[in-house]
Amino acid sequence: MTLRFSTDVLVIGSGAAGLATALHLSSRGRVIVLSKDDIRDGSTNRAQGGVAAVSQPADSVDAHVRDTISAGAGLCDEKIVRHVVSRARQAIDHIEDLGLEFDQQDNGPHLTREGGHTHRRVLHVADTTGQAIATTLINRVTSDTKINILTKRIAIDVVRADTPNRHAARTLGAYVYNAATGNVEVIEAKYVVLATGGASKVYQYTSNPDGSTGDGIAMAWRAGCRVANMEFNQFHPTCLYHPDARSFLISEAIRGEGGRLVLNNGERFMDRFDPRAEMAPRDVVARAIDFEMKRLGLECVYLDITHLPDKQIEQRFPNILETCLGVGIDIRRHRIPVVPAAHYTCGGILVDKTGKTDVEGLYAVGENAHTGLHGANRLASNSLLECLVFARSVADDIAKGLSNFRGHFLGDIPDWDESRVTDSDENVVLSHNWSELRRCMWNYVGIVRTNKRLERAARRIGLLKQEVHDYYSNYRVNGDLIELRNLIHVAELMVQAAQWRRESRGLHYTLDYPQPRTNPRPSILYPVVDPLDVLQPINRQRKQSKTR
Ligand code: FAD
Ligand code: SIN
Repeated sequence: MTLRFSTDVLVIGSGAAGLATALHLSSRGRVIVLSKDDIRDGSTNRAQGGVAAVSQPADSVDAHVRDTISAGAGLCDEKIVRHVVSRARQAIDHIEDLGLEFDQQDNGPHLTREGGHTHRRVLHVADTTGQAIATTLINRVTSDTKINILTKRIAIDVVRADTPNRHAARTLGAYVYNAATGNVEVIEAKYVVLATGGASKVYQYTSNPDGSTGDGIAMAWRAGCRVANMEFNQFHPTCLYHPDARSFLISEAIRGEGGRLVLNNGERFMDRFDPRAEMAPRDVVARAIDFEMKRLGLECVYLDITHLPDKQIEQRFPNILETCLGVGIDIRRHRIPVVPAAHYTCGGILVDKTGKTDVEGLYAVGENAHTGLHGANRLASNSLLECLVFARSVADDIAKGLSNFRGHFLGDIPDWDESRVTDSDENVVLSHNWSELRRCMWNYVGIVRTNKRLERAARRIGLLKQEVHDYYSNYRVNGDLIELRNLIHVAELMVQAAQWRRESRGLHYTLDYPQPRTNPRPSILYPVVDPLDVLQPINRQRKQSKTR
């Protein structure tokens, strides 16, 4: 018998976006929050640089808006940029009220700089800002009796009420895999908020935690939502290059405080690519590093901060110092070997200013949403800001709906049907497919693309999709299978969007169309019924089994 929960709002994800949304909603209804593993397991907890917010008289909202739009390479939605940037102060005041203390100096908060910012405007807590934000939010949600946190739960699919008019479809809740028991549970909810983070795990090398498998984007797509700008996956220029610390980020704030990028012979190179040198936006810096590595056959380049006083490094970057010391690199004395790695999903589920998706009752917030803020390349430290600002917008909209809600559909989600599936006897196939997909995306859909590489990727992803679909149809689900299925759907969306964009812009650079075009548009993908995308796979299985 399927275990069932019922709630007003189901929030899928316990990063900054999910937890902040839950907190805003808890005075307005009952909330369930899910996380895949531990409550801290998202990217939020890893964030280093900080949160961008205008905080000194020399800076202005207009300047922050301009920098965001300039980094976004012609594809930001200016209204949304202004919506977010002008609410930054409110978001910062709120998180401070919840208990967060940003680093201070004599005359106010200590502000750091990052690529693409014309002013120092990044608030931070040393180099562990994300951990501080996560701790603040977790302390609050765990003591809030209206919020129920369910860990080790992986949402499989959002369930929607099918109606003849798909635009009138409404969400009913979700099927959720309980990784502790191996069972699938049903969570019925009046509103569902997707806050599942990004999809950078689709690449072989990434700064992201294991759970960044694009689940929210894939679930929304299968539920019939449009997605946008999936070709723009951001590569962070500087991840530590060391076999024992593959996905560890070396914050852009190091460059903001004067760190220099050099080749193995000590030569600086960024000024050959952009007058802003190390302070250019991320797409420019990552591409320059990639170019130099390929030109010279290098395994990595180096980030050098040895010229900064020891005390400054120790106070400002204690986490990076300690982690690098742990693998034998003293950043006070030695250059840090770095390479680019997949870092942030700029595209995602298309939402409006209140986080609404195309399915009624279904919202998206945080990295899995496409709001229009980031355009073709996200400005550093604008992501945590977006999570905090949109959490409030989403919560306010849901709160309005809750007060008028008529709960006629609760109880409509069928039990999860496992009558036609068995246990897999060859789980190793999953890990082979995982590696193949991630290598394929790294090699063919990476920093530099071509038509041929994208075609190759599309062919391979098509084969993997077929195999995983067969697997999904015949065997009981487990965490790896759920994530792989999502990664494949997301990879396919990324390739489709990249093939659609016949120009180079922001994070999408292709040798076949090296120039940007005039009148840029976002790439919006509309869901079509592909037999392998099966919109409601479980309902369909159930219907089949009923007619036997
Ligand atoms: P996440 O924090 O990634 O949380 C996702 C949550 O969803 C997790 O709890 C996960 O368990 C859950 N989840 C996922 N799928 C499912 C599922 N199927 N079922 C149930 N739960 C699910 N941005 C900045 O603005 N400033 C920075 O300094 C900064 N530094 C960064 C450093 C690193 C190393 C990384 C990786 C990112 C950094 N970013 C930074 C980006 C920023 O941290 C993320 O974009 C942001 O934290 C995303 O928050 P989120 O709440 O959307 O998702
Ligand atoms: C960093 O600290 O370099 C990451 C900042 C970000 O991703 O916004």
